[in-house]
This record gives sequence, structure tokens and C-alpha cells, in this order.
Amino acid sequence: MLRGKKVLLGVTGSIAAYKTTFLTRLLIKAGAEVKVVLSPAARDFVTPLTLATLSKNPVQWEYFDREDESGEWHNHVDLGLWADCMIIAPATSNTLSKMASGACDNFLLGVYMSAKCPVYFAPAMDLDMYKHPATLENIEKLQSFGNRFIPAGTGELASGLEGEGRMAEPEDIVDFIGKDLLKGMPLEGKKVLINAGPTHEAIDPVRFIGNHSSGKMGVALAERAYSMGAEVSLVLGPGSVMPVESSIAVYHVVSAREMNDKCRELFQEADIAILSAAVADYRPKDAATQKIKKSGEDIHIQLIENPDILKGLGELKGDKQVLVGFALETQNAIENAIAKLHKKNCDLIVLNTPSKKGSGFGHDTNEVTLIDRKENQYPLELKSKSEIAQEILQHICNHLL
Ligand code: PMT
Repeated sequence: MLRGKKVLLGVTGSIAAYKTTFLTRLLIKAGAEVKVVLSPAARDFVTPLTLATLSKNPVQWEYFDREDESGEWHNHVDLGLWADCMIIAPATSNTLSKMASGACDNFLLGVYMSAKCPVYFAPAMDLDMYKHPATLENIEKLQSFGNRFIPAGTGELASGLEGEGRMAEPEDIVDFIGKDLLKGMPLEGKKVLINAGPTHEAIDPVRFIGNHSSGKMGVALAERAYSMGAEVSLVLGPGSVMPVESSIAVYHVVSAREMNDKCRELFQEADIAILSAAVADYRPKDAATQKIKKSGEDIHIQLIENPDILKGLGELKGDKQVLVGFALETQNAIENAIAKLHKKNCDLIVLNTPSKKGSGFGHDTNEVTLIDRKENQYPLELKSKSEIAQEILQHICNHLL
């Protein structure tokens, strides 16, 4: 959820400020662009150089640089408006109180007051300060402003006392924000099952029957579904690209039968299933247990049919489940895709015509036509697989949920 987001991290003067070095790293790792703002007291605990190096951006704490006589100043309003979200961590009792009352006696507070984006705050203080009625009132007031409260943890405090007041761990802060940003998304609360990539059907221990699928289309669907708020399971064939989003549950499989078993298991819980994998229709009847040796004679491999995963899910499909198939056609494309849609009991089929330039196996782009049960056709022009994935999912949200 944080990929590509502009995150402003406001650090105030608490010993927990040292944890913001890890927090900055995690935010960068999650794909965010990070800028850090310090309160004057925060500089006693963590250096601007450390945070500038980790965030790859200059760190600011004053309206102007006292050594610079050019008269240039740091614009708190621009910075507040730049951010997609602001995190104040650690938020000391002093800063909470100023945020709640509108006091604005430092650069960080000026940025906070200018920010129109969601603001998260993670308090850090000693246990009695944390439980003090003034703190509780400030937290409540900030929540009434729409600011999001990330509760402190319990454990050993800098004072040596044990109790509540430790700043939430950086991993928990990132997790909290990621989940919060998903709220209100079109696929929030939906479980989406996607399969992708090829299958490999063993001929012997070193050879297989496969195809050219890279898995890019299915991975794009998984990432877009996740960014639209879904809980995503991805059943992925061998050698396929991997999603960058680590919250997507990935199940690696090799053969069509393994893919079938995993998809059938996950389909029971799924609200939406999208089958983009290029599954081998046939497999060798008997895979050799040892490498087949060259004998100077032609050999024949007997192939038998694999299970049709999509058709099987179509038979299991409940009233509230949405099933989307793909169709890869080289002739009579529309006609064949419509036949597959009905035969496999899909709600929607995505027709791929690999003969079109930039479309199908391996490319970063695709050109497809969506066909629904009423046989309405929605052609989507050549776009990145990610954009095509977005359009497929948007179509599902608009017409099938
Ligand atoms: O992975 P990429 O390189 O990004 O390429 C993407 C893609 C071209 C593989 C993808 O966009 C695509 O078209 N996938 C479907 C490929 C295919 O096998 O189509 P099909 O017409 O043979 O199958 C129709 C549907 O039945 C598909 O949803 C397929 O997953 C499913 N099927 C087919 C056979 C089988 N035994 N079980 C199945 O579930």
C-alpha cells in the first residue's frame, strides 16, 4: 500500500527517535518516498545526517538555515501538501499537546498544521505520562480531528519502569498504516484467488512439457487486487515473475494437478477467482523416473488430459462467488471465448489474441476483450498488463459484485 506514496515522517524528542532509522528503512523498502522533519528536541536523539542518508532526502527542522544568508526558507505549507500521509513518531506528550491545541512553535508543527493528508501519530512516553488525563484527552481530540492513533506498546521504558508507553515497533507502524490505507477500498474484505504462469508436466526428471507464460498478467492482477483492498492468494506456476508486494500469499506449484489441488482448496474461501494461468491441457501418461537416454530410435510419449481447473471451479461455484477465466485463441476468437465462458460457467472471460502485437505471453503489455455472460464485449486497447489488470478488476467491481 505504501508503494509510490509520499510519506512525511515527523520525529519528536524522545529516546524512541532512534527507532525512526528503522522506520525510515522499512518505509523505503515498502516503496515509499520519504521526507523527514524533526522537532528541535529530536536532534538530541537522532542526527539529521542519519535520516537524510536513509531517506535519501534532506531533513528539515527549521524554517530557514541560519548559516545561509540568501534568505531562502523552508516552506512548511509545500511540504505539508506534498505528502500522501504524515507519520508523527515518536509523538511526545509535549508535541501531542501542541498538536491538539494548535500551538505552532516549531517547523514540524507548522508542517502538521498544513498537512491535508491522513496523519498518523505514535506516542512514546513514560507510563504515567501516557495514562495522564491530559494525554488521554489530547489523543481523543486528535482522533476527533481525523488523525489516526497508533497505540503505544507495553514493556520496559527508558525510565527503567515497566508499562505502557513504548512507541509501537516500526514494523507495527508500517503494518498499521498499510492496513489503514486499505480501508474503504473497492475490494476491502474480499478474498481474491488468482492463478498465473505456466505449468510444467514432467516427461522425465529433467524434461517437461510447458509453455511461454511468464506469469506477468496474473501477478499484475494480484498486485492490483491487493492495492484495491483485497486479501490475495496467488497460485503461481514455475519460473514465473514474483509480486513485489509481500502481503500477497503466494503458493508455488509446478504441474497442472498441483495447481488444481491448490486452487480448489483456496476457492472454498474466495469471493472472486481469476484464472489467468496457461495450464497444460495434457501431460505425459507415465513420467519416466530416470532420464530418458537417446536410443537412435523415435520415441512416442502418450499424453493424457489434465484436469480443467476453471471448469472444475465453475462446477463448484456458489451464488456469491465471481469466476473469471481467460481464453487464449488463435482463430474464431470471440466465438471460442464465448463457448468457453458458458462451458466453464464463468461470469466473465478475458479474451487474449496472441497474434496482436505486444499482446499475450511474456510482454509487459496486453490487449484483451472482456466478454460477460450476456455476451457483451468490452475491448480494451493495448496497455500495460498492470493497467489491463486494473480495468478487469474495476469491471468486476462495477458489474459483478
Ligand atoms: O503469463 P504471461 O506471459 O503474462 O501471459 C499471459 C497469458 C497470455 C498466459 C494470459 O493472458 C492468458 O491468456 N491466459 C490463459 C491461457 C490459456 O491457457 O487459455 P485457454 O484458452 O487454453 O484456457 C481457458 C481458461 O481455462 C483459462 O482461464 C485457463 O487458465 C483455464 N484452463 C485451461 C486448461 C486447463 N487444463 N485448466 C484451466 O483452468
